[in-house]
Amino acid sequence: MPWLTACADDLEVLHWWTSAGEQKALSELQIRMNDKNLEWQDFAIIGGGGSEAINVLKSRIISGNPPTAAQIKGTTIKKWSKLNLIADVDQVARDNDWDNLLPDTLKSSLQFNGKYVAAPLNIHRINWMWVNPEPFSDINQPIPQTWQQLIDVAPLLQKKGYQPLALGSEDWQYSTLFEDVLLGTQGADFYRKALVDLDDQALSSQKMVAVFNVLAQIRKILPAVSTDGKWDTATRQLMAGKAAIQFSGDWAKGEMDFYGSKPGVDILCLPAPQNSDAYIYTVDTMVMFPSTTLRQKQIQVKFAQTLMDADFQVAFNQKKGSIPIRQDISPEAFDQCAQASMAAFKNSAEKATLLPSMVHSMAVDERVQRSFFEVLDYFFKHLDIDAEQATKQLATAVKASH
Ligand code: GAL
Repeated sequence: MPWLTACADDLEVLHWWTSAGEQKALSELQIRMNDKNLEWQDFAIIGGGGSEAINVLKSRIISGNPPTAAQIKGTTIKKWSKLNLIADVDQVARDNDWDNLLPDTLKSSLQFNGKYVAAPLNIHRINWMWVNPEPFSDINQPIPQTWQQLIDVAPLLQKKGYQPLALGSEDWQYSTLFEDVLLGTQGADFYRKALVDLDDQALSSQKMVAVFNVLAQIRKILPAVSTDGKWDTATRQLMAGKAAIQFSGDWAKGEMDFYGSKPGVDILCLPAPQNSDAYIYTVDTMVMFPSTTLRQKQIQVKFAQTLMDADFQVAFNQKKGSIPIRQDISPEAFDQCAQASMAAFKNSAEKATLLPSMVHSMAVDERVQRSFFEVLDYFFKHLDIDAEQATKQLATAVKASH
């Protein structure tokens, strides 16, 4: 394939880590690569969750000019491997013993035809509830432990001028609420059936109607559609005490860390209501593109090695909010929320309740994911769509997309 790649010593990397906390975490990687005399060419595309980044990347690939590496994850890794679009990193993986360092449950998602095709950096937990305790002490109410308690306490918060939830108005952020409510109210087996197996009966069941009924109540207590819609703006509202709760993956903790707010103290980290027995995850990974020059190949090897380097995984994940994917790293260097995440990950692995995030591309392919996003975005923005209608729309859209 006639790939045109970046200049000899350039390392061009596409990613969507553009918030303050994400950038700080990424700088740990940039520094290490620059120390190896590689010039970091930043190819950053704004948009949490990465949908926009993938679109831009596709056009670079179609024009025969891919970057050296890109933040591609989940189901896209296998799909692009099948199409011969990405280069494997198997030699690096074998030379550096990845088989023994990575959690068994996640290895196969990084492989294609028995070879490693993606280099992983971390594990993010998605089903967190980040709580600013001050609004709750102000209204003298406990922090909700169930979805119903959340719905009940919301008007009391609103009466005192607090926004119950901090939430940006992008489709993937609304969809995070869907994942959390679905898991919390219907359990891990139903989550798997509906969001991983795409079982039509589950998607059109009364259980799904029940999920939308809870979401319909939450929809009423959401902030108005925000102008910038970004998740990190919502995190700042939470830190400022304007909002009481944010449902978000732990990249929100990276943001808190950046702004000097102490996770677990200033902002509490709790599993989303009724979510404590299961762990919804996403894994950030980098894939490499086939390259014609030996020099670019060597750069890719150095890059993949660095991503799995133990010191890097500590430094990066401390800032990113996630936990290392290497299983030999001591929890001691991490804050109490990351330690809780590590313990919950192990516990869920044992109980078989580790669940791939649909919203963050771990469970289904992009087309299916888009059909979820479209139905959910519409539902959250239109108060007149009821739970029965939304369930029908979702089952139809998902069926048509795969
Ligand atoms: C996720 C990604 C995280 C974080 C988040 C918000 O998909 O895994 O690393 O960046 O998007 O941008």
